[in-house]
Amino acid sequence: MREVTLGLLGLGNIGGGVWDLVREFGDELATRTGLRLRVKKALVLDKKIHGGKEVPDEVLTTDKDDILEDPEIQIVCEFLGGEQPAASMMLRALENGKSVVSANKMALSLHFDELREMAKKTGAGLYFEASVGGAIPVLTALQSPLIANHVEQVMGIVNGTTNYILTRMAAEGAEYEDVLKDAQRLGLAEPDPTADVEGMDAAYKISIMGSLAFHSRIYMEDVYREGITNVSAEDIAFGREMGYVLKLLAIGKDNGDSIEARVHPAFLPVDHPLARVDGSLNAIYLYGHSFKDMMLEGRGAGDAPTASAIVGDIVLAARNAVHPVAWLREDPLPVADDWQSKYFIRMKAKDAPGVLAEVTGLLAGEGISVSAMMQKGAAPGGKATLIVITHIAPEKAVRRVVEALNPEICQVENVIRVEG
Ligand SMILES: NC(=O)c1ccc[n+]([C@@H]2O[C@H](COP(=O)([O-])OP(=O)(O)OC[C@H]3O[C@@H](n4cnc5c(N)ncnc54)[C@H](OP(=O)(O)O)[C@@H]3O)[C@@H](O)[C@H]2O)c1
Repeated sequence: MREVTLGLLGLGNIGGGVWDLVREFGDELATRTGLRLRVKKALVLDKKIHGGKEVPDEVLTTDKDDILEDPEIQIVCEFLGGEQPAASMMLRALENGKSVVSANKMALSLHFDELREMAKKTGAGLYFEASVGGAIPVLTALQSPLIANHVEQVMGIVNGTTNYILTRMAAEGAEYEDVLKDAQRLGLAEPDPTADVEGMDAAYKISIMGSLAFHSRIYMEDVYREGITNVSAEDIAFGREMGYVLKLLAIGKDNGDSIEARVHPAFLPVDHPLARVDGSLNAIYLYGHSFKDMMLEGRGAGDAPTASAIVGDIVLAARNAVHPVAWLREDPLPVADDWQSKYFIRMKAKDAPGVLAEVTGLLAGEGISVSAMMQKGAAPGGKATLIVITHIAPEKAVRRVVEALNPEICQVENVIRVEG
């Protein structure tokens, strides 16, 4: 039996979950792996208030150096959250030759280059499976069992809060603000939900997952981002009538000579595998040239599911004689600026002769053809809802059409991409 000595940075939700899993499952894990995990120290801000776990006093510390500078600690597990001081503590641990396990998508996305370089330099391991998709082993899959592939696309539901909100909006016909308030009351959305609902959390995740999938660094500023705050119950209901389900997707594409990385709401056909992923679940749909398509689905957050991925990483870090370092191109592929997809355009149009002709004429003028159209609530002289779903078209051309429409006769209320 080999003892593996751990230092935990942070003992909140995830740190506490790891503490529990190591304590409750440690004997079984030791039998299975021959590794006995021991938490030597856990960094907290205040020894008296640290999330309510029964942690012996001698394990708690408020001094980061008790972990980062202790030669006995082999693996540093970072669960502080946020960019700093998490990133600099991880860097210091790697510099001291300690492997790092982290669930922190923000610090990893923003500081990946320097962390990876330091890991390469000192030979320490950098493991971060839990930073994307919680318990879902997608990053390990991309780096090992799926490595013999040219991965062309990754498309994921990687934020449980927004998936929960959209699922309830669809099921209840409820508006975004009402469901958000309820989700906050139930503890399923943060008091400040910005990072989730504006798509930042998902953007950090696609920057990490896309970098590994396409072996080309995707920086946070490369990720086009739109959240779910402009989505209405009406959009979801009309989309459903036309055979689509709305999801917040994190999408990465490798076009061969360029890449794309985006987070935005998108309609998916009801029979797409991601369309049935409801509530707070996460799922990632991948396409690679040899495995073709694949979907991984599971719990993307929560202390126990996240701790499952973290302890898995700890075991890898302890077992690997040589730590794998993700291979990335020296010159990252450029980020393309010519997104194409189908579009759902919801308009309030005057119920008068010539209006349809104006809409279809402008679309035709940009070379955009219409795949489906629906009109609702027609009342002569009044306004009707008009939905147009286009065939695949350049985003820039769709924007030009929207700008060219005369708002006196036709107001565009929302434009949503259609994927799948
Ligand atoms: N929650 C999830 O389901 C989930 C899933 C996947 C990944 N993650 C990632 O896991 C990380 C941790 O998330 P979490 O939910 O566990 O957050 P959390 O509950 O807020 O825990 C963070 C803990 O770190 C402590 N802390 C912050 N700065 C510190 C410092 N300088 N020194 C000592 N302690 C410090 C905090 O103390 P105070 O509370 O006193 O400030 C808190 O106890 C984040 O990067 C998150 O993105 C979370």
